[in-house]
Amino acid sequence: MTQTSTSFPAPSFPPVGSTPRDFSKKGLEHLWDLVGPVEAPPFTTTRIPTSTSVALPSPPPPLYPSFYARAPKDILPQLKFPSGFKFGVATAAYQVEGAVKNEGKGPTVWDWNSRQPGGVLDNTTGDVVDLQYFLYKEDVVRVAALGVNAHSFSISWARIFPFGTADSPVNQVGLKHYSDLIDYHIQHGVAPVATLFHWDTPLALSAYYGGFTSPHAVDDFIHYAKTVFAAYNGRVKTWYTFNEPRVFCGQTAAYPFNVSLAPGVNSSTAPYQCAYNVLKAHAGAVKAFRQMKIQGEIALKNDDFIGIPWRSNNSEDSLAVERHAAFQLGSFSDPLYTTGDWPKIMTDTLPPDFLPRFTEQEKKDNLGSADFFAIDSYREQFVAAPPDGIEACVSNSSHPLWPACNTVVLFDSNAGWAAGISPDPLSETWLQATPNTLRSFLKGLQTRWPTKKMYISEFGLDEPFENLRTEMFQITEDVARTNYYMTYLGQILLSIHEDGVPIMGAFAWAMIDNAEWNSGLSAKFGIQHVNYTTLERTYKRSALSLSEFFQSHLQN
Ligand code: GAL
Repeated sequence: MTQTSTSFPAPSFPPVGSTPRDFSKKGLEHLWDLVGPVEAPPFTTTRIPTSTSVALPSPPPPLYPSFYARAPKDILPQLKFPSGFKFGVATAAYQVEGAVKNEGKGPTVWDWNSRQPGGVLDNTTGDVVDLQYFLYKEDVVRVAALGVNAHSFSISWARIFPFGTADSPVNQVGLKHYSDLIDYHIQHGVAPVATLFHWDTPLALSAYYGGFTSPHAVDDFIHYAKTVFAAYNGRVKTWYTFNEPRVFCGQTAAYPFNVSLAPGVNSSTAPYQCAYNVLKAHAGAVKAFRQMKIQGEIALKNDDFIGIPWRSNNSEDSLAVERHAAFQLGSFSDPLYTTGDWPKIMTDTLPPDFLPRFTEQEKKDNLGSADFFAIDSYREQFVAAPPDGIEACVSNSSHPLWPACNTVVLFDSNAGWAAGISPDPLSETWLQATPNTLRSFLKGLQTRWPTKKMYISEFGLDEPFENLRTEMFQITEDVARTNYYMTYLGQILLSIHEDGVPIMGAFAWAMIDNAEWNSGLSAKFGIQHVNYTTLERTYKRSALSLSEFFQSHLQN
């Protein structure tokens, strides 16, 4: 996900705190007025699949002669996934559900953002997208046919609590929807893996107090989490509190979300105030999870990469990697897995008015508040020191690279070769396919934040220029994505067997094409194509290759 720049007319949002807490139907309509008109979906009941099974198309012919690249089943054929391994696909509520105003749902910040000038590149809204809200049964049957045994999806907070807050009413229709959806997954042998928060803050909370930039969000989140835990206990066995909280908290600071910051918070301090509140919300939810004796496991989904020094044997670049690892991964991993506190590099750089300090009790609550390590491991890249050196940056809070004081480089320092294969240009600022360095990255995670179990909670690639294609035979021939998945999965097997990294699941992002945040429908991450006129789904080569890989590498 990328951020857009700030050169747009001011987005329309009422001053934080000015919206009355009116939990009536009228109050809900008033919140939707902040968003504006919504496109109604073409149908408004859950479609029942005509058949409980889907016939897969005949397998695609080999991509290359076998002397150049192997068929999925012939990649490291002697290595198998451990038994119980989760072969999963991933989605997130805003990106796939559609039906944003149906069945009592409240608006979210993304329903609002997608209508602000410059909010989304191609003006995609979440109004209809894949309509998975009403088509989930067909989607479950389709992934079950591939042999997929887990689906990592997110629950939309604003469907359960349209007004978000702990003192506001529960929307029983929303609660029942996910209950049915969970049951349907289980009936089809697809384990439901649920994320409580994938960036879609109820808009009411932004209006009332500034969302997660305010400490008020903590108790409201914990209340929402408890409601959901109690409702689905025993059926969902793997839970995540937050998806990529670092990216989310960065988002709050950026256009247009920065018009809804809590009083006293500005774009510079927002990511850190947000991180503090999110960690408290996470720790509080996990504490409740354990007190309520909810069955199963819980963690949060971390993101980003550790970094490789751009210039080898360069001590500044090695230090830059440490700063990158601390700010990108350590901010949410040190608290949960090693110290209970922020990385020292962060507290040495950021004064307490930027980065609130944890009390001793809060540190205790943080530490151990995750049962496993989940990483959205899209890529591993080079990291360099600022051109004028780390010290010049750390000591100057107006430096453009302050406070992290490092920079990501997409090519090597020798001849300028790319760190990896390019995705679609829409994601090229952050994403490259980097299979060669995946093992050292995963090993690095295990060294820094040791854990007994790791999930690759998302990995994937948006196929270059797929959006420009109109012929189905070209769209389904997603070579870059197929190569990405096959090379990553081979490395994951080696990581498990040669490096002893306890990886127990891998979730392909994404189950289907979807609304890719600021890039809308223009960046295609799906292993299935969606026809946005008919909503019909079509498997791409990557889906069938993933299926073949897993079937042939399962424990007998
Ligand atoms: C992740 C995010 C997903 C998806 C993906 C591809 O960071 O959790 O929602 O957008 O990136 O960009």
